[in-house]
Amino acid sequence: MILQKTLEEYFKWFHRHPELGNEEKETTAHIRDILTAAGVEILDTSLKTGLVAQISGTKSDSQSKSQNGQQKTPVVALRCDIDALPIDEASGVAYASENPHCMHACGHDFHITSMLGAALLLTQEKENLTGTIKLLFQPAEEGGGGAKQVLDSGVLDDVEEIYGLHVAADLEKNVIAVRPGATHAAVGSFKIVIRGKGSHAAYPHLSNDPLVASAAIITAAQTIVSRNTSPFEQAVVSITHVEGGSAWNVIPSEVLIEGTFRAFSEEKLNYLSERLAQICEGIGISYGLQVDYAWKRYTIATNNDPALAEFAAQTARDLGLTVIEGEPGMGGEDFALYQQKIKGVFWNIGVASPNGLHHPGFVANLEPLSTAAGLLARLGKGALERLAD
Ligand code: NI
Repeated sequence: MILQKTLEEYFKWFHRHPELGNEEKETTAHIRDILTAAGVEILDTSLKTGLVAQISGTKSDSQSKSQNGQQKTPVVALRCDIDALPIDEASGVAYASENPHCMHACGHDFHITSMLGAALLLTQEKENLTGTIKLLFQPAEEGGGGAKQVLDSGVLDDVEEIYGLHVAADLEKNVIAVRPGATHAAVGSFKIVIRGKGSHAAYPHLSNDPLVASAAIITAAQTIVSRNTSPFEQAVVSITHVEGGSAWNVIPSEVLIEGTFRAFSEEKLNYLSERLAQICEGIGISYGLQVDYAWKRYTIATNNDPALAEFAAQTARDLGLTVIEGEPGMGGEDFALYQQKIKGVFWNIGVASPNGLHHPGFVANLEPLSTAAGLLARLGKGALERLAD
């Protein structure tokens, strides 16, 4: 109960002080202060925001593994993300964001707090830990390249397993969802610029109207999923931003279209992009316009190791929690980048919000904070035990 109260206080501070990706300076300083006060070691890394702390066990058999005559103890990592979103909060909570146009609307404040709770629990258990647990507070998950910064820093080079959590708005509080394989999609974004000739709206024959061509591209793009993708395969092509024209009586010379692709494999994501590029080229030719197409890959699909997913589910059940498999979603998550190099599991915890993630009215129920902290700590400790065996 004391832990829960402490965590709620921590949470409210982080919720009041959200910062965007790669700008999480106050957030990082506050995490550092709490960890330092608890006597947790903080590692030197090249990270500008975010940090990595470490708790090493003192149990004698933590020295039991030897390799080439050298002592080797297992190392696992627990990971959370710390950045917020450019959203004006409309949740109505008393501890709402004090930073304009910035909100913890994806629950990363919940993740930070759960990790701090895990750190407090694990420091009390040092003598029972059979290795080292790295606590990764990752910056810039929301498209800011945070996972890549962490990997490039080399701080995870010795890590054998990694565990990450995310709140689930639509799950009952304290319910844990964990499944093998993909949980989050590979994500790409695209930008299309249609350049033609504008004219007076009364003389359309003097233009080659890029607005009409943009409508053709938007319509044709719908067939990539509905006609080029098997009904048994998951894929999304969403057009989200269209800009063109500035007056009711002028045909513009340029139209911009932006959007996103989602799929569960790299091949599929590449294919979606290839098809859209072909559509742009074809419509450009048939409408006599220049169509520039560009795309960017944000992240690959997450990929939960099946054995570790079962370990995580069993650990949660051992704590008396309700565990479900949950559904994969088309959202992206850069935890996937760690899983390319390190076996890992990304799991969800229900926080029963009336509104979904990335919504200005998102409100996490705070009761699961100590549940999440307890499960993170138990996963870290249990993974070390298994690896030290
Ligand atoms: Ni998130």
